[in-house]
Formats: sequence, C-alpha cells, structure tokens
Amino acid sequence: MKYGYFDDRNREYVITQPDTPLPWINYLGCQAYFGIISNTAGGYSFYRDACLRRLTRYRYNNAPMDFGGRYVYLRDDESREFWSPSWQPTRHALEDYSCRHGMGYTVIGSTRSGIEAHTRYFVPLDENLEIWQLTVTNRRATRAQISAFASIEFCLWDAQDDATNFQRNLNIGEVEVEDGVIYHKTEYRERRNHFAYFACSEPGAGFDTQREAFLGPYRGWDSPAAVEAGQLTSSIAHGWSPIGAHQVKLDLAPGETRQIVFVLGYHENPIAQKFDPPNSQTINKALVKPVIAKYLDPAEADAAFERLRQYWAGLLDIFQVNTPDIHTNRMVNIWNAYQCMATFNISRSASFYESGIGRGLGFRDSNQDLLGFVHMVPARARERILDLAATQLATGGAYHQYQPLTKRGNNHIGGGFNDDPHWLIIGVSAYLKETGDWSILDEPVPFDNEHGTEKPLYEHLQRSFRYTLERLGPHGLPLIGRADWNDCLNLNCLSDTPGQSFQTTTNKEGKVAESVFIAGLFVYAGRELADIASHRRLNAEAAEYLAEVAKMEKVILQHGWDGEWFLRAYDDFGAKIGSKECEEGRIFIESNGFCVLAGIGLKNGKAAKAMAATHKYLSTKHGIVLQQPAYSRYYLNLGEISSYPPGYKENAGIFCHVNPWVMIGETRLGHGDQAHDYYSRINPSAREEVSELHRCEPYVYAQMIAGKDAPTFGEAKNSWLTGTAAWNYYAIVQWILGVRATLDGLEIAPVIPKSWPGFTATRTFRGVAYNITIERKGEGNSIALIMDGVPIEGNIVPPPSNGRKTVSIKGILT
Ligand code: GLC
Ligand code: GLC
Repeated sequence: MKYGYFDDRNREYVITQPDTPLPWINYLGCQAYFGIISNTAGGYSFYRDACLRRLTRYRYNNAPMDFGGRYVYLRDDESREFWSPSWQPTRHALEDYSCRHGMGYTVIGSTRSGIEAHTRYFVPLDENLEIWQLTVTNRRATRAQISAFASIEFCLWDAQDDATNFQRNLNIGEVEVEDGVIYHKTEYRERRNHFAYFACSEPGAGFDTQREAFLGPYRGWDSPAAVEAGQLTSSIAHGWSPIGAHQVKLDLAPGETRQIVFVLGYHENPIAQKFDPPNSQTINKALVKPVIAKYLDPAEADAAFERLRQYWAGLLDIFQVNTPDIHTNRMVNIWNAYQCMATFNISRSASFYESGIGRGLGFRDSNQDLLGFVHMVPARARERILDLAATQLATGGAYHQYQPLTKRGNNHIGGGFNDDPHWLIIGVSAYLKETGDWSILDEPVPFDNEHGTEKPLYEHLQRSFRYTLERLGPHGLPLIGRADWNDCLNLNCLSDTPGQSFQTTTNKEGKVAESVFIAGLFVYAGRELADIASHRRLNAEAAEYLAEVAKMEKVILQHGWDGEWFLRAYDDFGAKIGSKECEEGRIFIESNGFCVLAGIGLKNGKAAKAMAATHKYLSTKHGIVLQQPAYSRYYLNLGEISSYPPGYKENAGIFCHVNPWVMIGETRLGHGDQAHDYYSRINPSAREEVSELHRCEPYVYAQMIAGKDAPTFGEAKNSWLTGTAAWNYYAIVQWILGVRATLDGLEIAPVIPKSWPGFTATRTFRGVAYNITIERKGEGNSIALIMDGVPIEGNIVPPPSNGRKTVSIKGILT
C-alpha cells in the first residue's frame, strides 16, 4: 500500500493521505536556519543548533504523535466551524489533502466546506527566517467570511533546559508586539543578543502571545479556545509559555483567492546596539525591520522561492543519471542527494528520532557524510573539515561529537572511539579527489580548539594514522577503545549497572579488546593517506604508510580470518567475536564489508569467500542484517549490542549504513548484479509498494530496517539522519555506476547488472561538464573509453585540452 506518489518531474513526493504510518518529514533550510516539517505541519525550527538555539517547541514522544508545529487554522465565521488545512492539529476530515515535500520546501493543503487552502513553507537562501505562504480560495458559489489563524509556540532557546527547568523558565518569557509583529525576546534583557519574530503580511484582526489565552485552560492545539471563539485576545506573555498567533479576516467572493504571508525568523543584534532607545529594555528593531518588510511582500517571497528552486536544480544537476531502473534514477538524481545535504547539515542531531537535544555533530558521522555531499558545495565541505579537525586532540584521537554553535568538542559524550581519527583521512581524501584543492592540507588547524597549537591539516592526518599504530593489541590488531564504528560493541564497558551509559562508561583499561573492523579501516585509510603523500612527492613517507598497511593486512589475514569470513573482534578476555566458535554473533557485516571494500583478500580468494558467507548468512529480502545469530540475551563482555532485542538496531537489525560496504565489496569482485540487487533491497523508492510494512518515508533512507529475528521484520526506523545516505550515494554513483572522483581525475569504471544495456550520465567535475554514455557490448566489466571521439588509455579521463568545458565520453563495456 502507498500513501502518495513520486512526482519526479517536480522533484517532489506527494503524500495524499495525512495519517501516514509515521510523520513523514522534510527539512527546511540548508545553510544556518533550519526546520523540520512533517506532512501534517508538525515540527520545529532552530538556528544552527537544535539544542542551543531552538526557536519553537516540540512535544517529543507525544500521543498523538508529532505535536508542536507550524499550525494554520481556518474558521468559517458564519457557521463557526474551524479546522486545519494540514489535518493536524484538529484532525477534521478533509477533501483533496496533499503534502508536497520538495527540495527545501513543503506545501500542505486541502479543501473543506468549499474553502481550499495551501501553505507553502520554505527558508529563503542566505536568510535566517522561514516563509509561510498561505493561499485561501473560496470554491463556494457564495461569499465566505473566513478567519485565518497562524500559530507557533516559542521555545526558550536552550531546548534541553526548556524541557526540564520549569521553576525558572515559567518566569522568564517575554515578548514585544510592534506594528503587528510579535517579537520573542526571552533572556534578551541579559546575555542574549538574539530574538525571534513572527510577522504577518495582512493587517491583523488580532494576535496572542500567551499560550493559555490562545488555547484556553486545559485545552490543546486541537481546539484552541480563541479560534473556536473566532477572536484572538491580544494577550501579552509575562512568563509561562510565549507563543505567536495571528488572525486575519478574509471576505472572499466566489472563486476569489487571497494570499497571506507569515514570516518566522531569527535575528542577532550587535551587542552595543541591542536596545532602542539605548538605555531602555526595548529591542532595537532597526536592522530587522527591512528584512521582515521584504519577505512579507508576496512578490519577494515568490522570488525567494524561485531562487531556492534554481539553487537545488543547480546542485542536483552536478550528477544526473539515466539507467533502466527508475528507483536508481530517482534516488540518485533527487532524493539521495537531497538526503546527503540534510545529513551534512544536521548530522544526527534533529529529526523525528533525534530530539535535537541529545547529539551534536559526530566526528565519525560528519566525515562520512562528506562522501555524499562534497560534490555539491565543496566550499562548505572544506569549512566542515577544518571545523572537525580543530576538535581533534593532540593524540590524534577525537571527541566523538561537537556542538555546531560553539564548534567545541562535546565533553559529556567523550571520546576514545578508536575508529574516529581514520574517518578524517577519508573525509579529506574525498575532498581532495573532488576538488583537487591541495591547499587545504596546508591550512593551520589547532588541536582541541586551543589557540597556539595550530599545525597544518596534513599533520592531523598523520596523527590520525599514528593513533592506531600507538594502540595495537595482543594480536597486533587495533585496540577498539570505547567502541569502533559500531557504537554498541562496548568491549571495555562490562557494565552491570542499570542506566549506566554504554557510550561513556569504560570500566576496563582497554589493553586487550581488538577490532578487525578498525584494522580494515586502517588499511583503507592508510592507502588513501599514502596516495595523498605520494601526490605531494613525499615518497618515503608514502612507502612507510604502505609498509604499515601491508603489515596490518598480514595481521588481518592471520588473526582476523576465521576460515570462511573475517572475524569481528577480540573481547577483553581475548575471546573471538564473529567467529564460527561463537554461539551467537558468529558472523558480522562490518568487518567483512569493510575488509573487502578495502581490497583485503581480493588476490587470495578470501574476499570472495567473505562475500559469499555474507550472502549466505546475513542477506535477507529486506537487506543485509548486521550479524547472526542475533544475541538472545545480554552479554556483559559485549555491551549495548546485546541490550537490543534480537533483530533491532545493532543486534542483527538491517543497519542500512553498512549495506553499501558490501555493495562496494561486490563491485570489487566484479559482481554488478549482486551489488545492485543489494542496493535495490534497501532503496526506499523500491520499497514504496510496501509502505505499510516499511512505515518510514519512501523517499529517504532509514538507519535501520528490522531484521529477520524481529517480529516486525521489514519495518524501518530512524529515517533521514544516517550514514546510509552518504554511503549509498557513494556506492551507487562511484562504484556501481562507477563514475568516480580520484586524485588524478574522473574515473569511469562501471560494475552494473549484466541485463543493463548501459546508461547515460552527466557529471560536472572540476569545472568541466562530462556527458557520459555507457554501452554494454559484452557481459563483463572491462571498459574502453572514447573522449570526444578519440580513444583514451585506461579508466581515468584526462583533463580536457584547450580549456574545453564540455566533453563527451563514451564507454564500451565488454
Ligand atoms: C549511528 C551512529 C554512528 C554509528 C552507527 C553504528 O548511526 O550515528 O556513528 O557508527 O550508529 O553504531
Ligand atoms: C548509535 C547506535 C545506537 C546507540 C547510539 C548511542 O547511534 O545506532 O544503537 O544506542 O549510538 O548513542
């Protein structure tokens, strides 16, 4: 069953039924001001940091779900009937409901009692505000007297504190109302120099700023007393819960349409100019008023929307493909790229599953996100790399996360995840391959943001590499530390205390437990670093890296091979994890996927064996599970992984993030059919038909699909913010389609299904537009390339001569 359909031409997903199994969300904003918006207008907004600069409040884990939002109400002032055109929060029956989620915007609307209404929500480029364009049309044969209301609930900035510290917070709320604009200024009197505002383009028939006045005592957002009464009350919030609500009266002739623009925004004043007059407590609005006035003009709002559309068209045009598979095309050309932007921006901090108060930007996560993002806005990737590197510790280790607002390492989440440093090498390498901008390696970057400790970025990479060499265990494999990529393999935790955090508790010194996964990662990252070094003509250094990599490869084949597949780890007692000797957790995806992706065992048949075992023991019709057999009980020596019921999350769930490692592994073996088959199993568009089972959005990846051991096998959770986005994009584009950025230029090496006659693609790479046509003439993966009619040697397209900006590439697969 489906709840909507893809409108590929408009790059939208259209939801036609409001009661989707879960809120199906979209993101507004792609630079500094962001919002989450569900298909029924739920969600919230923030500036840069969902925890520390939250504008609007959200009710997590609520029943009914998804409460708190950008709510519009309509009221027929004659019949006194009122409803929400977005279904929530009133949940009245609607005709022609639709929600169009597009690239950075969402349009929600419906018709009821002959009144049609749609609201288009978006964040203009380069502005810290969001626009709601509400269009109301009278479809009746008679005139209609309609009141339109728009409402939001302010959050008191720090979303964590807002949800807990009521003894203070119920006293501090402050607003100003001037010229019909509602200004939320809680704490502006003291150390904040920022405020929020909520404005309306039409002369208001009323406003409210105190929640209780608007809703009425003991009433909810589904039936606000003031909406029911048809008149807002001009309340001014002193403490309690400041809100913003506007009322506009419309007298509509039959067929008449009116548009009302609402603007919700964030503004920072220079500290010396906070107040006007200077010695008052009144916000100085001189700088913000022109911005508000501009976007309340519907023509300006339309123009801003058009710019946003153009912006996205430009970003997506960087890579477009046309294959025989519609699900591949639509994900690559539209949704997967779009999701990569969201994960780059928000990391894992704010979604329907991430509250925005728990996590900042992950070091490991953000580096991986670059793989799917770097081609879109390289300048922002560069900035992110430098921010990440500046949180790195002098040891080469890393804080696991940092707060986007302060850019400081997040101490209470700690560090010591021994895989972290290597992802920096991989992120930087992806940037160099895309841009050829070698100057980034010379950028001075501090350690732990400490002034005076600056070293060239390159040295950060060197320290990342050495970090592992300085932390080897009894078998010569890397020590795992707190955990590796799998946050839940907590081999040094040994926790038997309820509520103790697996992520921050370490009860063991950590001198024994080793990770085969980190070993594979070390080999992969080490080769990338060696490549970078040799491109910088540091040949001796490159040789040294390759020697260490070769040594590690030998150790893996000796102590990390289990006979049929790669082991996963050794625990704190030196016992094997992910081995045929284990009762549960005999085989894991991560070490097998990553070792083969890194090329380990390609020559001696072990890679092929590992992929065959992965297929035999781990693959299911809904994707590849993380390990088997699932842990049926809690194991003190394994930690959080065994805390999940079988089939969920890291305990044998289909962890979509790691599936692409196996896809890439299969391409390295030349298995295009198997790689694309795995790709299709978790491709959200290909799963649209089973939306009832899948439950999450059919247009973006989810972190996890319940595995075969789970009673809800096939049900997805934790959509949007996941490394799945970048890795799937990377796997399909760079390894299956094989259009790959390398340090030396664009490589074309497809490993596609045998049944495909070929495909066409366009790729803009380092300023040149490549029109690529791949034609299959045989069943294999050897390719002969012809550039503008002239055959070329090898797989890497040389930069075009004579400054040509458009090049045609033909590839013949045999
Ligand atoms: C989540 C985390 C990521 C981790 C993965 C596996 O996706 O954000 O850092 O690698 O889970 O535990
Ligand atoms: C990762 C894992 C999750 C774990 C969490 C801890 O996101 O996916 O299972 O609970 O890290 O913060």
